[in-house]
Amino acid sequence: MGDRVKRTLTLSFLLACALLYLGESLLISGQGQTRGNTSLSRWRPARDLNGVGYVGASACAECHAKEARTQLTTPMGHASERAADCEVLKTRAPLTFRNGPYTYRITRDGDRSIYTVGDGAATISEPVLFCFGQGVAGQTYIFRHGGAFYESRVSYFQALQNLDITILHPRAVPSSLEDALGRPMSQEATQGCFSCHTTPATGGPRPQLERAAPGVSCEACHGPGERHVAAARAKNLKDPQIFNPASLDALELSQEFCGACHQSFDTVMSLAGQGGAGNIRFQPYRIFNSRGHLVNDRRLSCVACHDPHEQLQHDEAYYDSKCLACHLSSAKEPKTEARAAPACPVSAKQCATCHMPKVELPEMHYKFTDHWIRVVRPGEAVPR
Ligand code: HEC
Ligand code: HEC
Ligand code: HEC
Ligand code: HEC
Ligand code: HEC
Ligand code: HEC
Ligand code: HEC
Repeated sequence: MGDRVKRTLTLSFLLACALLYLGESLLISGQGQTRGNTSLSRWRPARDLNGVGYVGASACAECHAKEARTQLTTPMGHASERAADCEVLKTRAPLTFRNGPYTYRITRDGDRSIYTVGDGAATISEPVLFCFGQGVAGQTYIFRHGGAFYESRVSYFQALQNLDITILHPRAVPSSLEDALGRPMSQEATQGCFSCHTTPATGGPRPQLERAAPGVSCEACHGPGERHVAAARAKNLKDPQIFNPASLDALELSQEFCGACHQSFDTVMSLAGQGGAGNIRFQPYRIFNSRGHLVNDRRLSCVACHDPHEQLQHDEAYYDSKCLACHLSSAKEPKTEARAAPACPVSAKQCATCHMPKVELPEMHYKFTDHWIRVVRPGEAVPR
């Protein structure tokens, strides 16, 4: 615990330094107005940015075909879909589930998917509005009922190819048909889901949820692009007027940028009990706990191992060179200033298979990759 507090302090200290540094550079550049758009230079994902218009990924694709070709087909690019486009529902419906007397059915009718819950006597049916999650592990359904957005009580799970109880919803038999339906979401909770799984689509004072573009695409990470597109068309990109995360240092990138959606160390620490077993899903938190890896070093930032514009690499050999950027490959190899971390006494390849093990999260019916890099001893519990 003392260790954790120390790490929180370290991170807060580093962030404070970063902010101070940023404050200073803004002061300096403020005089010459070199990068006038200060709101974009402080851009972070999953936050509203007032006043600047969003143009949509197809506009970016005109000039950045390379990034667009792959990014828009990744699971992140499809982190949500409108029901009409939802691959899982198009190909897997009807989906069914039973909990005590309550039956669940999701059926497909042309472009529509209908979520129906029954108790033998009565039923409630609502059209699905959005599918949340590509279904790598699972997918949850968002619909409207009685004026509020709802999160479905049951979700699709890839491993089951069918429905089961949604993570963090009670497994107990519901107390009523209304209760069986799912969870009504506060405006804040709805906003939260959308800010991590969609891309804002309006330039008005507040992006409107139902007009949001499904999936995490260009402007979810680079900020609203209206000014950049205008500047590019005018061939005046001295100030590109778009956020480039390459300007962040490694900790800012992992914790504040990717961590805005994947959950930073600080956010998880502020959850009671660090989010419990579920924190296996929160890679920025997990990696920041790894002994020897809490450093502000680009070789360990999220983009050292993952290009957010490309598909996730599943071949574990791909990651060896990432580890060997710091670790020696044998005890005989001489240390250099850049590569001084110890060699493995066991193996010189497939590092991630042993040191980043796959850990099952039973409620998601899925094995996540533990980003808490460590020596795994047989029989030892997964650290939380
Ligand atoms: C009319 C063409 C055009 C359009 C449309 C366009 N860009 Fe660009 N963009 C450029 C050019 C040219 C550059 C500078 C050269 C380069 O990096 O490719 C650039 C640079 C960038 C950079 C790097 C900026 C930096 O600080 O170095 C990012 C990030 C970017 N664009 C993202 C986007 C996004 C996101 C969209 C859609 C909202 C978009 N662009 C739309 C032409 C365009
Ligand atoms: C705006 C929110 C958001 C941001 C910012 C974000 N992600 Fe994601 N990411 C998601 C969501 C949501 C998913 C889940 C997609 C799905 O499977 O439905 C995801 C999935 C992923 C995956 C898994 C893809 C797969 O094939 O299963 C990787 C890897 C990933 N993100 C890396 C990153 C990295 C690296 C960054 C920072 C450069 C980042 N993400 C920033 C929201 C975000
Ligand atoms: C703070 C950002 C954030 C919020 C808020 C959020 N998610 Fe996610 N969600 C993610 C990220 C990042 C992932 C990918 C990592 C993972 O699977 O946990 C993800 C994954 C998922 C998955 C699994 C996707 C897959 O392909 O397996 C589902 C389903 C999902 N979210 C549904 C929801 C729903 C429904 C809500 C709102 C009630 C919500 N999420 C709110 C960030 C968020
Ligand atoms: C999940 C977040 C995320 C999404 C979505 C995303 N990017 Fe990026 N983008 C990044 C990060 C992070 C970098 C910096 C990468 C680095 O430093 O290696 C980057 C860099 C870039 C650059 C600058 C490349 C360079 O050579 O400097 C361009 C251009 C770009 N992105 C365009 C796009 C376009 C177009 C889309 C949509 C099709 C898009 N990005 C979607 C995170 C994202
Ligand atoms: C040293 C390399 C490395 C770094 C750094 C790294 N990852 Fe990963 N990541 C991996 C490996 C290995 C996998 C598993 C790939 C596979 O087998 O499918 C993975 C998988 C993922 C997945 C897919 C879900 C899962 O658990 O399997 C997400 C999401 C993800 N990483 C996000 C991130 C984020 C966010 C960061 C930054 C905090 C990050 N990663 C940093 C190596 C890395
Ligand atoms: C930025 C450099 C860097 C990268 C990249 C890196 N490591 Fe490390 N690693 C270190 C340092 C430094 C230590 C601490 C060494 C010490 O003090 O004994 C360490 C420690 C370790 C330990 C021992 C941890 C413990 O609990 O004793 C393991 C295992 C490990 N690394 C595996 C990996 C693997 C596997 C990868 C790739 C997925 C990787 N590392 C990537 C620098 C790095
Ligand atoms: C087959 C599983 C396996 C693979 C593959 C593997 N390791 Fe290990 N590694 C271990 C085990 C087990 C230990 C603990 C050995 C001990 O303490 O006796 C260990 C120890 C380590 C240590 C701690 C060394 C020290 O002196 O404290 C580091 C660092 C490390 N491995 C890095 C790596 C890297 C980098 C790779 C890939 C080049 C890798 N490992 C591949 C199982 C593996």
